[in-house]
Amino acid sequence: MNVLEAIQTRRAAKAFDPHHRIPEAQLREILRAGALAPTAFNIQHNRLLVVEDPEKRRALREVSWNQPQVTDASALIVVCADVQAWQKNPARYWRNTPEEVQKTLVGAIQTYYTGRTQAQRDEALRSTGMAAMNLMLAAKSLGYDSCPMDGFDFEAVAEIIRLPEDHLISMFVAIGRNTEAPKPRSGPLEDHESVLIDAFPRDDGN
Ligand SMILES: Cc1cc2nc3c(=O)[nH]c(=O)nc-3n(C[C@H](O)[C@H](O)[C@H](O)COP(=O)(O)O)c2cc1C
Repeated sequence: MNVLEAIQTRRAAKAFDPHHRIPEAQLREILRAGALAPTAFNIQHNRLLVVEDPEKRRALREVSWNQPQVTDASALIVVCADVQAWQKNPARYWRNTPEEVQKTLVGAIQTYYTGRTQAQRDEALRSTGMAAMNLMLAAKSLGYDSCPMDGFDFEAVAEIIRLPEDHLISMFVAIGRNTEAPKPRSGPLEDHESVLIDAFPRDDGN
């Protein structure tokens, strides 16, 4: 399956086969695809937490409006980010480059993030979004279905997964075999509303 086909056929799965298992090697491949998503300054702040423990899955479902995907998906990944990764020995993100390059990049990282709480968080959410999409497209290309989810109590989930104080939770990505055919797309916008050229229209519509 090529990328475009994976994008066009991916749909949010609502009913996973609870008995299905993804072979370990394929799950590793999917997670690797998530880790390959780009991050600004290559700070690689995404953290992909795989919930294997059935007890924990049940606890998560309880704080996720009882959504069945949480327990029934073959794999449940909590897509998180270390919001402070930018200041945790950032030279390691550029360790395969000449020292001069490392120095420049580390300086740029400090300049960009220092004192900018919202930028730190915005950047983490951009990165996790791309990692989540990579997970879903990789899953699709291997013949699986997925569902991105944020219908849960973020604080309760943070407690269950022992989220460190300086990390955030972006969403769940549930992956497995869908047992239901997807419904037709529910209300796609016309291109003229979702795609714009050069600038947004003025208030008078021109
Ligand atoms: C950030 C995010 C959170 C979502 N949360 C949930 C969720 O909690 N439960 C659910 O069943 N679907 C969830 N969805 C799936 C959307 O409902 C679905 O992607 C949307 O209706 C479009 O359908 P499609 O993905 O099949 O094209 C979520 C999607 C996104 C992007």
